[in-house]
Amino acid sequence: MLVLGIESSCDETGIAIVEDGKKILSNSIEFQDEIHKDFGGVVPEFAARHHAEKIGYLLDLSLKKANLSLKDIDIIAATNGPGLIGSLLVGYLFARGLSYGLKIPLIPVNHILAHLYMANMIFPNEIEYPHYAVLLSGGHTFILKAKNYLDFEILAKTRDDAIGEAFDKIAHYFNLGYPGGKIIDDIALKGNAKKIIFPMPNFKEKTNDFSYSGLKTAVLNHIKSIDDIKEAEINDILASFQKRAFDIIFRSLKNIVRSEHLGQVIFGGGVAANNYLRRNIKGIEEELNIKTYFPPKKYCTDNGVMIAGIGYHLFKAGKIFEGEDVFSRADYRKLY
Ligand code: KG4
Ligand code: ZN
Repeated sequence: MLVLGIESSCDETGIAIVEDGKKILSNSIEFQDEIHKDFGGVVPEFAARHHAEKIGYLLDLSLKKANLSLKDIDIIAATNGPGLIGSLLVGYLFARGLSYGLKIPLIPVNHILAHLYMANMIFPNEIEYPHYAVLLSGGHTFILKAKNYLDFEILAKTRDDAIGEAFDKIAHYFNLGYPGGKIIDDIALKGNAKKIIFPMPNFKEKTNDFSYSGLKTAVLNHIKSIDDIKEAEINDILASFQKRAFDIIFRSLKNIVRSEHLGQVIFGGGVAANNYLRRNIKGIEEELNIKTYFPPKKYCTDNGVMIAGIGYHLFKAGKIFEGEDVFSRADYRKLY
């Protein structure tokens, strides 16, 4: 069964064709980094316009790469939330038009479910349910218990900023460009991560939840306290920030695995591409006696492959668009 997946929730336009939820036949993507870099974050209006400009071209490209034509496609899957409303509307309504014209089913896809599916798609014979899933993206930060492809229990979540948002805001403060995560990841290699001890979040009650606003403020206050900041100091600050950002995740993950041991932990979302995380998870694997799974970096950030992949399973589960208002049936709300 051939699924055409369309992703347009934020600033990447992605169109991919995937067979039976696992075989990637084509993957086309357009990035908007250049458009948003001077603003330090995504400008919703620009993002939506750019999706509209590129989406038709990406559809042609994806079909061409897979050596297919539209009449070969069995199902259309498209992100219907969460995300920027203008961006979502471009991709989702494009998908709705295709589904109507081709008379094939349309599957509304929850973007978070799609990120969480990606590792399963890459390691189909290894990952078992239940497992823990760690979602680290620009908009969300969760640790969940995955019971099957479509059934998740939230065990920990951010109380304020998402982890990727903290990376992006700090990179913006230093005028490093957008998106900040990858840039900080590279610069931090030159710094000493143990140079500055930034605080860990503290909550009054016992919880595994995260917070990133305190860390972000601590980093910004630290920068302001230095008069004439040198490049080496910036490298140390970024490395120390990055370490702390992941210490916060590791602390919760350790608590969760110690309270109920599941042997597998999958990662997803743009921040899961981070090299410090991928290096340092090795020690956690040994300490907790778990195995971790990461999608290849290009499938951590937003893409159409993950939408087509999970779209297949949503179709099998009968989650087909049946004509209600696009955003009223938004299944993703269950995750909040
Ligand atoms: O999953 P994603 O593409 O979009 C959302 O669903 O939000 O994640 C984007 C986020 C951005 O905040 C970006 O800075 C971050 O992922 N990111 C990284 C890295 N690559 C992308 N963060 C840390 N290290 C990276 N290598
Ligand atoms: Zn995403």
